[in-house]
Amino acid sequence: MGRTLISIERGTGEPIYQQLRKALEHEIASGALNPRLPLPSSRELARELGVSRNTVNTAYQELQAEGFIESQPRRGLFVNPEMLKHLEYGEDEPVATAVDWSQRIRRSPDAEMPEIAKVRDWDRYPYPFVAGQVDAESFPKLAWARALRDALDPPHLHYSLRDGIDEDDPLLVDALCRAVLPTRGIEADPEQVLITLGSQQGLDLLGYTLLRPGDSVGVEDPGYLDARHIFSRAGALLTPLRVDASGLIPPPDLHGISLLHLTPSHHSPTNVTLSIGRRKQLLALAQQSDTLIIEDDYDSEFRYQGSPTPALKALPGSERVIYLGTFSKFLAPGLRLGYLVASPELIRELRSQRRYRVRHASGHLQRAMSLLIENGQYHRTVRRRRTQLQRKWHALRESLNETLPWRIDPPPGGVSIWVSGPPELDCVELARRALARGVVIERGDIYFADPAANRNHFRLGFAAIPHEAIRPGVAQLRRVITTMLEPR
Ligand SMILES: Cc1ncc(COP(=O)(O)O)c(C=O)c1O
Repeated sequence: MGRTLISIERGTGEPIYQQLRKALEHEIASGALNPRLPLPSSRELARELGVSRNTVNTAYQELQAEGFIESQPRRGLFVNPEMLKHLEYGEDEPVATAVDWSQRIRRSPDAEMPEIAKVRDWDRYPYPFVAGQVDAESFPKLAWARALRDALDPPHLHYSLRDGIDEDDPLLVDALCRAVLPTRGIEADPEQVLITLGSQQGLDLLGYTLLRPGDSVGVEDPGYLDARHIFSRAGALLTPLRVDASGLIPPPDLHGISLLHLTPSHHSPTNVTLSIGRRKQLLALAQQSDTLIIEDDYDSEFRYQGSPTPALKALPGSERVIYLGTFSKFLAPGLRLGYLVASPELIRELRSQRRYRVRHASGHLQRAMSLLIENGQYHRTVRRRRTQLQRKWHALRESLNETLPWRIDPPPGGVSIWVSGPPELDCVELARRALARGVVIERGDIYFADPAANRNHFRLGFAAIPHEAIRPGVAQLRRVITTMLEPR
């Protein structure tokens, strides 16, 4: 035994028997002890190290209890050969092979579908016409900071910190029922409401809970691409339904379609509003064919002429409508907070699904949001933001009409303007060239079921871009468009 390897340090505060036990453990693991020879007797080792026999015996006892060494009758203490098997790395050592992840990772059914390609560092560009983002300057920082702080005082602290298992913050649910949903014409009881991590989670939970492999989901064409990904991942087949200036064109019937995803307030991505006639027609068709409708009401308050249309869920006969709302557009998408309104039976099941995925949204954020709604700041922010966005919408529309070689007549709502150019305009190329001039725009082809046949559309978001950057941004865009459309 390489006894010199064992060194005992006094005055470290670590008991000597423990130092000895660790040192012996290390000797065994590193193979320094010959397993065929007995360990030195406690007397021998104690003398060698200048410690008491008791100390050595205690260390040996612990090693024996842990299975590092064993006592062989009349022969003494030996390293346990069983332990050696686990510790030794000899010829039997498994050769590390690379994992073939491509074989292990389950292939998603939406692998071939295009994805919304966001310019991730959009905030570094001078003209960010991005969709789905907000201007950080218009976020109510002080009011939110106060709400977060208040949520840490009793009686709120408990709800901010508790593990709610499958429950939501009752104050937030109550605030939604009393102060938010009625603005959309929706009357709901608390057991009809589920708090989500944004509409995206609502779509995912609904897809998982309501769809069976091979079920058909009706989607708007063009339409919200992320919803198509989610339903397709849930195993559904997609049935694209065309959209015109009055929203989704109702098909003769909805037979065979188990779920229909709609954005009636402001269609995504064109912003047209689903006409009241079509709303009623779709509700009747859904009734006839037992189709469920998801109303994705992501930015309803942003209406710049007239007042917002009430939700589809507010119409009589809307029992089969599942309503999705979000705080992403009115406050910020990074908060990841939204809500879902449906029948109590469905809510119970969604709650249970959510429990085994994420449990619930952050208690602290939920409580802060309920305080923000209760103290009126939430509605003040929505009103302020609506006024800001209205100004930006006018500025963008006017500068596009003054600048572009063709006229546009965008619907008066939403947080983006959808532009359809002449058929020869390739928006994929346009987006690439515009970016080189500091202008971030979104290509529009990917929102169609047939992207190749629809390359002349693009989208300009105006929630994130500063007001003063709109005109110069459009001027830059026009230069790119003009060179692209010049006859060669
Ligand atoms: C059609 C549609 N629904 C919902 C959302 C919001 O999703 P979330 O609430 O998950 O942020 C968006 C955001 O881009 C959207 O375009």
